[in-house]
Order: sequence, then structure tokens, then C-alpha cells
Amino acid sequence: MKTILTVIGARPQIIKAAAISRAIKESFSGELKEILLHTGQHYDAAMSQIFIDQLGIPEPDINLNAGSGSHGKQTAFMLEGIEEQLDIHKPDGLLVYGDTNSTLAAALAASKIHIPVIHVEAGLRSFNKRMPEEINRIGCDHVSTMLFSPTITGMENLANENFKLNAAPPFTIDTPAVYHSGDVMYDNSLYFSKISEEKSTILDDLGLRGKDFILSTIHRPSNTDSEDRLEGLMETLLEIAEGNKTPLILPLHPRTKAKLEQFFSGESLMNRLENSEYFRFVPPCGFLDIIALEKNCSMVMSDSGGVQKEAYFFGKPCLVFRPQTEWIEIIHSGCARLVDADITKIKEGYEYFKNNTDLEFPSLFGDGKAAHFICKQMVKHL
Ligand code: UD1
Ligand code: UDP
Repeated sequence: MKTILTVIGARPQIIKAAAISRAIKESFSGELKEILLHTGQHYDAAMSQIFIDQLGIPEPDINLNAGSGSHGKQTAFMLEGIEEQLDIHKPDGLLVYGDTNSTLAAALAASKIHIPVIHVEAGLRSFNKRMPEEINRIGCDHVSTMLFSPTITGMENLANENFKLNAAPPFTIDTPAVYHSGDVMYDNSLYFSKISEEKSTILDDLGLRGKDFILSTIHRPSNTDSEDRLEGLMETLLEIAEGNKTPLILPLHPRTKAKLEQFFSGESLMNRLENSEYFRFVPPCGFLDIIALEKNCSMVMSDSGGVQKEAYFFGKPCLVFRPQTEWIEIIHSGCARLVDADITKIKEGYEYFKNNTDLEFPSLFGDGKAAHFICKQMVKHL
């Protein structure tokens, strides 16, 4: 039996962890034991507990309650707490997802005390180091012993950084294993799609069933922390919703909520957003609800990594509110556009996808069994 200590912390990591926890339960319970550590980076019930409850993830064994803070403060707190837990549990490997501060803290803590790091979502690059996530990804990849890339582009990025794609075991931090595994988020979207159909009531609750509507999410600091950019985005979304008499649903990330209150509380923009017939803020959604919205909307507009990809999984066009993306194949497919926070590009993109509905969404993210593949390699090589 091999023991892995899995670190989760932010919303998308909790969701990703569901795929591996499920694979362990279904097929590897005799070979892999998982200890779940939640850093507490996300802590509101709607950003954390709802996913543990809905997605069949075991209740975390440890919660560090790190909470919010500056990058240095938050990462340092988690680094110290994770190191203590690694010392107590002495796992055979540490499993991390994605690119958040929780990912980097965990990867640093484990690698320094010679516990192999397994990085799921390795190799992704936006080539923009002003994004904290880019620093977290690069840092994590370069101290990992097993790297699982969801895409071929991720494999190419790793090759360009001198990772050997065909290293022979035994794998070490200096001679790591690099695999093209497919995407655990695709596993999850397939698995929870039907469950969402059965259980989510959000379409009826919001009066959206059978209607054209737009789904939007915004949470990147580059968009939320600049008053001008946030104002431009909100004015443009409001104009699109009202001008086309099309409902636009925006589940509000707590970072964005705080910034809207800070910049626009009591101002005309806030009043117009809150009183619009078509534009609608809703609280952060559970996974079954967001899937229902993604599957039934006519278009997605988002700066989220996960949401832009799920739009693709469910065959929906997407405007990406970023200047670049680590999921570049979606852009190359012609099913999504990088529009940044550029008002003209957003409006043009909206018109384009409204009028061009014969898009094709070839399979790019694996066969829905990435988690099984990852577990198999962990059993074999840890
Ligand atoms: C983090 C990740 C980002 C990921 C996102 C997923 C980093 C550097 N960023 O960004 O890569 O895309 O999670 O959602 O790790 N807050 C609450 N309640 C919560 C959580 C956050 O109110 O449960 C508020 C706090 O004001 C906090 C702010 O949101 O300061 C930002 O939270 P933080 O975890 O630092 O970054 P995210 O923007 O969520
Ligand atoms: N998500 C969710 N509810 C929401 C918004 C997003 O469940 O209200 C899910 C989304 O479906 C995806 C993940 O959260 O699986 C993406 O997380 P987020 O946008 O917070 O971060 P990113 O992917 O950009 O790191």
C-alpha cells in the first residue's frame, strides 16, 4: 500500500481532487491510501465545503485554515503547516493540482524533505510571469518527480524546458517522469454531467430553461483589481445583455464581489447592474449548478481557466477575458477567442459567435480516464 498526501486549497483544486479520490475508491483502494490536506485558502462554504459535499470527496483529514492574505504571508503559512504534516505522516508522495499558492507551498515543502511531488496539470504555460499562477506552475513543475500534463502543448512546453519526455525509472526529482495523461477536469465533467441533469434546479430557479443566455465569470486580479478594467468589463457585459435582451448570469467570486463593493458601491454602475432586467449576479455556484449553466447557455465569457475549458467540453463558444491562455488549443480550434478586457474585441467576439454556430469541438483533453491513468502510474512508480 502506498500513501499519498493530497493538498487542496482553492475551489478548482477541490473539484479536480474529486476525480482521483473517485478513481482510488473505484479501482485502487487496495493499493493507494489518500490523506487529504485542505490548506483553507478558500474557506467560504460556497467556495469549498459545497464541493466536498456534492462531489463525493472524503472530508479532509487536516485543515490548516490558512485563509486569505498577501502571497508571501499565505504561502509561508501553508509551507510551514504542510511541512509539519509531512513530517507526521511521512507519505510516499505528495499530490498537488494546478497552479495556486497552495500548490507551490506544498511542492516546496515536500521537495525539500525529499518526498516525491506528483503534479497534476503539469506543463501549462501562459508565458506571462505577471500572473502569480505562472510562477507557481513553473516552480512546482521543476521540483516534481511525476508530472502529468493534460495536453500535448503541455508536453511540448516541458520538453522546451529540458524535461526528458522518455526518462526511465526509477524516477527522481532530477530524472522525473513526464506523462501525457489527459485532463482530470474532463473526467469530472463527463462524470457529473448526468448527475447535474438529475439534481441541479438552477435553470428553473433562475427562469432560464429553454432560453438563450450567457454565462460569465471574472476573478483574475488583472481584471478585478484595476478599477478601469473592471468598470469596462461590467459596462460591456451590461450593454450586451440589455442590448440583445439576453440574460447574462454572473456567479460572483468573493474577490470580485469585494472589488465591486470597494470601487462602485453606491455608484450608478452598481445600481444599473443590480437593477437590470437581463444582467444578473448570483452567488458562487456549486459544481452541479455551474455544469447545468455551462451546458445550457449559448455562450461563455470568462477569465477562469476551468470555465473556459468546460465551455469547450460542453460545446460552447467562449470569450476569454485574458491576453493569453495556457489552454491555447481551445483558441486554435476557433471555438474561443482571447479578448482580454478590450471592449471592441468583446463586442466583436460576441457578434461573431452569435452568428457562427457551426463550430466543431474535437477531443483535446483525453478519454475521461485521466485519473485512472494517474493512479496506475503512482502505484507503479512511487
Ligand atoms: C485563487 C488562485 C487562482 C485561482 C482561484 C480559483 C492563487 C495565487 N490564486 O485566486 O489561481 O484561479 O483561486 O478561484 O493561488 N475570498 C473570500 N472567501 C474565500 C476565498 C477568498 O472572501 O473563501 C476573498 C478574500 O478577500 C481573498 C480574495 O477572495 O483575499 C482572493 O482569494 P485568494 O485565494 O487569495 O485568491 P483567488 O483570487 O481566489
Ligand atoms: N466553478 C464553480 N462555481 C462557480 C464558478 C466556477 O463550481 O460559480 C467551477 C468551474 O466549473 C471550474 C472551477 O470552478 O470547474 C474553476 O475554478 P475558478 O474559476 O475558481 O478557477 P480557475 O480554474 O481559473 O483556476
